[in-house]
Amino acid sequence: METMKKLIDKLAQTRALSREEFKSLLLSSSDNALRAYAAKRAGEKAVKRFGKGIYIRGLIEISNICKNDCYYCGLRRSNTKCRRYRLTEEEILDCCRQGHGLGFRTFVLQGGEDGGFSDESLCALVKEIKKRYPDCAVTLSVGERERDVYQQFFDAGADRYLLRHETADDEHYSKLHPANLSLEKRKQCLYDLKEIGFQVGTGFLVGSPYQTIDNLCSDLLFIQEFRPQMIGIGPFIPHQDTPFKNEPAGSLVLTLFLLSLLRLGHPNSLIPATTAVGTLCEDGREQAILAGANVVMPNLSPSLHRKDYMLYDNKLSDGAEGAEAKDVLEARLDKIGFHIVTDRGDFKAIEIE
Ligand code: 5AD
Repeated sequence: METMKKLIDKLAQTRALSREEFKSLLLSSSDNALRAYAAKRAGEKAVKRFGKGIYIRGLIEISNICKNDCYYCGLRRSNTKCRRYRLTEEEILDCCRQGHGLGFRTFVLQGGEDGGFSDESLCALVKEIKKRYPDCAVTLSVGERERDVYQQFFDAGADRYLLRHETADDEHYSKLHPANLSLEKRKQCLYDLKEIGFQVGTGFLVGSPYQTIDNLCSDLLFIQEFRPQMIGIGPFIPHQDTPFKNEPAGSLVLTLFLLSLLRLGHPNSLIPATTAVGTLCEDGREQAILAGANVVMPNLSPSLHRKDYMLYDNKLSDGAEGAEAKDVLEARLDKIGFHIVTDRGDFKAIEIE
């Protein structure tokens, strides 16, 4: 225990550990006292950097049409039971209008890899949002594109991009994705995005099928090397109409432990308490915040389509997860001593001890 605590201290001080060091920590993840210690140190680190403020992002799920066939995802191409939709530009702008009125200053446009949403129309949309709401940041999360397309998105005014690497181990990647998708391509996209100048977010699934402790060490090491501005992780949750329907969900406890390790290694990063964490457990998001998260992303999608963006079974989209219930979120944060911050909340590297 003492040796493990020292590793947590070392991570907090030096912001980096070796594979062996991460591995010994993860092998001790069943130790309640160790996890509590990591969460305490990570929570303190987040408060030192961000105070008790939690940034909010309005998540607009612009299309659930996807050309990919990832084995874990409810939006996969082969899922014929999924009722497909693509929002119009007008509908998306209407979400922004509502969101802006509610105090959101970041809009996250997320969607499947939908060829029907042309690069030009996405650029036009980003430009229009930035024109109407110059005080807002726009985050895109629309998967793998060519570098010149990412450049066009950036030139249109997009500020940030989210693209989880999902798993940083080649062999594991191939067990979660069909052969036309590769980790190499995924990483190339991430490096392209960073070079272009986006604030970039990446992350991985916790407890996805076939995942080993070594795979998770690879995830932590990739993030340590890549140094993303945003880091999103969440437990794998099975979806009934995917090949992984009978696989067990990832562990909340392990997710929170990893989140704490990530916060200690990346004190300036924006780390959300993800919807998946809130779906697994009623107070999952609160626990994530206490373990070092500092962002929540309420759902701003039109209510008509929310139930159709089912990445996994029972995905939350209303209640405190809905942007319209910002006061419910505020009250829940208040209970744990936190509050919503409505500014854009861009990444800023600040030296903290
Ligand atoms: N369980 C948890 N998260 C999932 N995602 C996709 N399918 C699942 C699932 N079954 C996550 C992926 C993706 C993000 C938008 O949703 O990590 O990057």
